[in-house]
Amino acid sequence: MNKNFYITTPIYYPSGKPHMGHAYSSIVADIFARFKRLEKYQVLFLTGTDEHGQKIQKEAKKNNKDPKIFCDEISETFRSLNKKLNLTNDDFIRTTEERHYKSVKEIWNRLVESKDIYLDKYSGWYSVSDEAFYDEDEVEEINGKKISKLSGSSVEWVEEESYFFKLSSWGKKLLKFYNDNENFILPPSRRNEVIKFVEKGLKDLSVSRTSFTWGIPVPKNNKHIIYVWLDALTNYISALNFPDVNDKKYKSFWPADIHIIGKDILRFHAVFWPAFLLAAKLPLPKRVFGHGWILSDEKKMSKSLGNILDPIEIIDKYGIDQLRYYLVKEVSLGNDGSISMENLKNCINNDLANNYGNLCQRVFSFIKKNCGNKIPASTNLNVTDKKFLDNLLKKLPHLINLMNNQNLNEYIKTVVGFSFDANKYFNDSEPWKEKKGNLNRMNAILFTVSHQIKNISILLNPIIPDATNKVLKSMNIPIKDLNIENIKDLNILNHDKELNNLEILFNKIEDDN
Ligand code: ME8
Ligand code: MG
Repeated sequence: MNKNFYITTPIYYPSGKPHMGHAYSSIVADIFARFKRLEKYQVLFLTGTDEHGQKIQKEAKKNNKDPKIFCDEISETFRSLNKKLNLTNDDFIRTTEERHYKSVKEIWNRLVESKDIYLDKYSGWYSVSDEAFYDEDEVEEINGKKISKLSGSSVEWVEEESYFFKLSSWGKKLLKFYNDNENFILPPSRRNEVIKFVEKGLKDLSVSRTSFTWGIPVPKNNKHIIYVWLDALTNYISALNFPDVNDKKYKSFWPADIHIIGKDILRFHAVFWPAFLLAAKLPLPKRVFGHGWILSDEKKMSKSLGNILDPIEIIDKYGIDQLRYYLVKEVSLGNDGSISMENLKNCINNDLANNYGNLCQRVFSFIKKNCGNKIPASTNLNVTDKKFLDNLLKKLPHLINLMNNQNLNEYIKTVVGFSFDANKYFNDSEPWKEKKGNLNRMNAILFTVSHQIKNISILLNPIIPDATNKVLKSMNIPIKDLNIENIKDLNILNHDKELNNLEILFNKIEDDN
């Protein structure tokens, strides 16, 4: 069985500092990457920055900076955000790197070789902010300004010599591919969108520009700069040392298991990218998951709307686990979701502080007070205890399935339900009443609930790694090789060593905070 897993985020434009939308995609990808590692997969998790094109050149100029220096600076802010987000990315690619140039040139040459590229003239609409060409019927005029109906960003008329990619000739093959690979585009609503777009008929795609210089020149005609999306998409294989297709990384990790992206860039990933790969005679990725938008005040967060929530501010104030948990609990992956400070506080208080945090704290302090701070060993589980543990074990295959289908919200709901049940189990079992008369019974209860804390902590580990690692460490469970199998293991708890002190996991947020 192939135990390799390759997952990517979009590579972000370093045109301004990272915002909550970027953080969201990266956190979601990180959760899946961490989960696959728990499943003992060899994971490659890639993120990075998309540094070429007119948009970046313009932004650099506005800041009176050389584009490369401009990118160096902003790319660094994405890197440092990644640390704050607790991302476990294995690599960070920049499209200004040598490894990427090599790979883009090879892709270009392959497209030339397959006769999918020809020289002509482009005249039509272009949005610099989306780096996208739009058809006449995708453009509308609002207050005398031409904008894209799809993204709302302004478009300008472009007329210039351009190389074209014969996208029109790949429509049928793409439709067949979507048909043969039902889960290539998820969620299903996105898949239908793409299929409709392709069925309408594809036009050839302009893949070079001549009106600016910031990018990778077309081999043998450096008047032309390769279209930034052809450049950017190729990053996913540049990071695997393409064009060396015999390289171990490339062989182990291509095709990618999943590209996590926002729905705004679905067309590029689900239509253009597979068409480029087909023409270049390379395998296609297995899945593209297009998540929805994080809305702030019901609107898409964007620089132009000025409604950007800064992830760093929130992390500094409330903590990274809190933000990670909130974003993926409250926003249904695949749909748009509004976030607000009010909801964030409720979520921290209810789910994290009062539920999971409280469970760990009260059980551990009971053990400290009554059992010399050691989790008691027990073989005397009664029917209730066994049923309680079984309930989670029975659902484990289902939970794994949910994660592998990116059904993150259902997964979290289920796991948080277990935590709620564990608090109830502890209450209902009343170990404090058994202290005097029936130590065996008290031990069985503590043994059982401790196992459940371990299990819930493992399941929540991809989502709130800091807090769960603290809990597991406090229980003397080695977290280095932590994996899903540890859930079934009733011998994993250490009964000889004292619990390590567990600080408060989640502070409750008061109203005026
Ligand atoms: O499009 N809600 O880069 P980009 C949720 N460089 N996600 C959001 C979001 C929001 N409000 N805003 C942004 C590009 N995102 C290209 C990608 S890939 C080969 C090249 C996330 O900086 C979401 O994943 O504009 C979206 O697709 C991505 O950031 C766009 O980032
Ligand atoms: Mg964008």
